[in-house]
Amino acid sequence: MTLQLTSPAWQDYTLLDSGGERKLERFGPYHLIRPEPRAIWKPVAPPEDWHAAHAEYLPAEMGGGGEWHFRQTLPDRWPLQYRNLKMWAAIEDSRQVGIFPENAAHWDWIEDRVRAAEPGCEVLNLFGYTGLASLAAARTGAVVTHIDSSRRAITLGRENQALNDLNDRPIRWIVEDAARFAEREVRRGRRYHGLILDPPKYGLGPNRERWAFSENFDHLCTILRDCLTEQPAFIVVTAYALESPPEILRPGMEILTRGLGGRLELGTLTALERSAGRKIDLSITARWSA
Ligand SMILES: C[S@@+](CC[C@H](N)C(=O)[O-])C[C@H]1O[C@@H](n2cnc3c(N)ncnc32)[C@H](O)[C@@H]1O
Repeated sequence: MTLQLTSPAWQDYTLLDSGGERKLERFGPYHLIRPEPRAIWKPVAPPEDWHAAHAEYLPAEMGGGGEWHFRQTLPDRWPLQYRNLKMWAAIEDSRQVGIFPENAAHWDWIEDRVRAAEPGCEVLNLFGYTGLASLAAARTGAVVTHIDSSRRAITLGRENQALNDLNDRPIRWIVEDAARFAEREVRRGRRYHGLILDPPKYGLGPNRERWAFSENFDHLCTILRDCLTEQPAFIVVTAYALESPPEILRPGMEILTRGLGGRLELGTLTALERSAGRKIDLSITARWSA
């Protein structure tokens, strides 16, 4: 059975409407329009709702990238909350806004796994971005190592930690290439009880190390197998924009969990639209628990 994970508990985020390969979203008091290639249907909300959006991210005609077009003034950043986890939303150069709302389903699951694990369990979060999964783990008692190649993402992560008054919690924030860091941890003999992986389709390390999901994921799992304790507690993987079914994560997960038994679930992180109840699968995911 394929999981379709939604995040219904959001108060500060809503997928309002979608269509024409775009989506209209509410991030707190602000409405934003971003590209959504999977929304091939027609919008349902009245056009004035779309026109009233505060900003729209327009992808470039040719090649990647694009830019934001502002229709009203937006603050540099503004606070949002999921349950009682606080976070900064901020318009980035890319179409990102500092949060992947669909990941909230994972934050809840990670908290439950950490609570069920031994006190002080060690968690490694690779491709961690602005750190919400790391904060979810740390605030429930984990010792967290957070890796991202972007210095800006790490800065935002630290600011989210401060926003939640969690500066007393043990989180190592490290700017590094995910694979390079994992190789070093194996050499150091450091072992983790929990693993969080959220790789992009393509990415660059701080020294321009190339990351391509289709070429590097299974190999990274081979390295990370030696970063796990003998009895790990959980592993969660999310992958974006792959246009592939969750099944493609199975080989990597089997490398990571060989001989461990436990439970493996494959599926998608899915957003549910308010206007017409249509679902958009935003990423594929795999979860393993002891
Ligand atoms: C999809 S985002 C992660 C989203 C995040 N997990 C979340 O829930 O908010 C992918 C992240 O991978 C980082 N990244 C890309 N290439 C990398 C690499 N080679 N090593 C480490 N991080 C990398 C990017 O800076 C970006 O923050």
